[in-house]
Amino acid sequence: MTVNIDWENLGFEYHKLPFRYISYYKDGKWDQGQLTEDATLHLSEAAPSLHYGQQAFEGMKAYRTKDGSIQLFRPDRNAARLQDTADRLLMPQVSTEQFIDAAKQVVKANEDYVPPYGTGATLYLRPLLIGVGDIIGVKPADEYIFTIFAMPVGAYFRGGLKPTNFIVSEAYDRAAPHGTGAAKVGGNYAGSLLPGKKAKAIGYSDVIYLDPTTHTKIEEVGAANFFGITANNEFITPLSPSILPSITKYSLLEIAEKRLGMTVIEGDIPVADLDKFTEAGACGTAAVISPIGGIQYRDNLHVFYSEKEVGPVTRRLYDELVGIQFGDIEAPEGWIVKVE
Ligand code: PLP
Ligand code: COI
Repeated sequence: MTVNIDWENLGFEYHKLPFRYISYYKDGKWDQGQLTEDATLHLSEAAPSLHYGQQAFEGMKAYRTKDGSIQLFRPDRNAARLQDTADRLLMPQVSTEQFIDAAKQVVKANEDYVPPYGTGATLYLRPLLIGVGDIIGVKPADEYIFTIFAMPVGAYFRGGLKPTNFIVSEAYDRAAPHGTGAAKVGGNYAGSLLPGKKAKAIGYSDVIYLDPTTHTKIEEVGAANFFGITANNEFITPLSPSILPSITKYSLLEIAEKRLGMTVIEGDIPVADLDKFTEAGACGTAAVISPIGGIQYRDNLHVFYSEKEVGPVTRRLYDELVGIQFGDIEAPEGWIVKVE
């Protein structure tokens, strides 16, 4: 079947596809899960996910390769991170096997919506794990829903590889010092809506969050990790217990070191010390690599490479990462899972 979608001009928006996967956890175990055409979740008004935020999500993509096949990028890492988030919120883990099998089923069932190779678009998968059932006390649910739905998407930050500017938030933190910043829980994102809205209203793509303890070090770029490049061929990303461990970031650390011969560092990035970076970017599944033109910090707009053009190292990182994801460049062992 051919579907009528303008693949080249897709944004990052919800699109209701024919099929999604759903599995229920009851009496201490997951059922075997199934595909369904019902895009509405049916849950109790007392579900702990609604009241107390006992829920988690993931984000991953399926890519159409040149030969027309479809592949996932490191889905085992998403499964592992969902397991870590589940542990943090006292939810039952979904096994890596069930997770990857569910992802494959959803991609396969919605195959016509996996964007064609060469359009730059991908099929975004949204795994979701929520506590349900009749619980009103502040305690974990005893029933859960695990679902994965999907939609074709384009660029998250408009402009794709065109740099955009971000503004440092001093008024708001993304996460508490020993809170849930490293877990992929919806509450982190609810709290980011207001600072994000304020940043966008004055012309920035999103907010740069500082470390919540000292407000001196860069932590996150909205819903993506930060990286900076120095003139000494270094690739530097923040090391912090309150940022989300980005699968894209860890992939870039490996690509930068092993393929681009760069020195890679996870460490502190003082916001007062941006001069040492010749380029900077945001990275994540949705963001891919989004070059950062400049960062507004107090009265100063610090421009990295250029506000208009992507820097050469960022471009090389992008080409290598995206080349691997779309199957044009050989991937490190275990990074690609074919959907057959
Ligand atoms: N940081 C935050 C807050 C995010 O929401 C995401 C998106 O998942 C990332 C970083 C990037 O993580 P990943 O590369 O695993 O998508
Ligand atoms: C992702 O990159 O998958 C994210 O989860 C970021 C955002 C769209 C919430």
